[in-house]
Amino acid sequence: MVNYEEKYRNEALNLTIVEPFNGSLTVKKRSPSNIALVKYWGKRHFQIPQNPSLSFTLNKSFTDTEIEYQYKKEKGLSFDFYFEGEKNTNFEERIGKHLSVLKPFFPFIENLHLKITSSNSFPHSSGIASSASAMSAFALCICSIEKKIFDTLQKKKEYFQKASFMARLGSGSAARSVWPGFVLWGETDFVEGASDELAIPLPGKSDKIFSGIRDAILITSPEKKKISSSAGHGLMKDHPFAEARYKQANENIELLIDALKTGNQNEFIRIVENEALTLHSLMMSSNPGFTLMNEKTWKIINEIRYYREKTGRLVAFTLDAGPNVHLLYLETDKDEILKFIEQKLVVFCDNSRWIDDGIAAP
Ligand code: PMV
Repeated sequence: MVNYEEKYRNEALNLTIVEPFNGSLTVKKRSPSNIALVKYWGKRHFQIPQNPSLSFTLNKSFTDTEIEYQYKKEKGLSFDFYFEGEKNTNFEERIGKHLSVLKPFFPFIENLHLKITSSNSFPHSSGIASSASAMSAFALCICSIEKKIFDTLQKKKEYFQKASFMARLGSGSAARSVWPGFVLWGETDFVEGASDELAIPLPGKSDKIFSGIRDAILITSPEKKKISSSAGHGLMKDHPFAEARYKQANENIELLIDALKTGNQNEFIRIVENEALTLHSLMMSSNPGFTLMNEKTWKIINEIRYYREKTGRLVAFTLDAGPNVHLLYLETDKDEILKFIEQKLVVFCDNSRWIDDGIAAP
């Protein structure tokens, strides 16, 4: 198996700037968020997941990042950060730390001044976590700078693999956002090439029924997360159910991959909903415990289950570490589902807000 950390540390030996350049150059990258079907919850060492996770990458919920870089002679990290057009000092600390983590892999950043500009397609107050799209867009930008200065990473696969590795160091789930379609992160016996260090596109073909899967993100609260995901992952360390959870996630990965390949809709629904409720059960039963769902979350879940029973359509819910509900459905049911959302679900959304998103086609 490839040891990517070692590979990228070795590559770094050739990544110091020997020919200074004048003026400033720019790279610009867009990266979407993703929604996990089998959840990553719990990590070990530095950003290594306790279990494999599987997600699909979204289309409309993305971050745009631009980095303008200039050569500077004196060594040391130097950057400015602008979020949605304004200088943002709140995020600067996190970016500074992240750049220190990236430095051993990209030593050339010490000879650059970076002007980083970032914006999201989704409103800041929508309760949507932006770290996956933001860290992924940022990693793609840094890999693009490497590519431009050193003429490396010419092969698409190499470029995206390295970006996935670097995105993971910023936020685990960001590792999955660099690829479109269904994406797997974390070692599993069932998929060759799966790695804890970076995400890969799910190999092989999924059944065509899932190829245009959609995600209506129903925003039940605009509030910021009650607990950061790093604190959440930390709570898994002494969690009494941790080992059972990691075993279950490994089983669910195998079953979900099989359901995706064979087009088994009932299995898909069962696993996806089980994963969402397991994630929240783990949070509720940790020490201290957190309840991140609100009463609107429950009302929507009940409506979805009732609608499924009544119509037999594939509708399933999943949740992030927050109260918003992701309603998953098939492209072919779009007209009917839009009616369902308007008639039954919009009343539970904050200011009637929801995002009409779907899988980014590979
Ligand atoms: O990438 P992080 O550290 O923000 O963790 C993400 C955790 C979940 O969104 C709850 C699950 C997942 O796999 O995306």
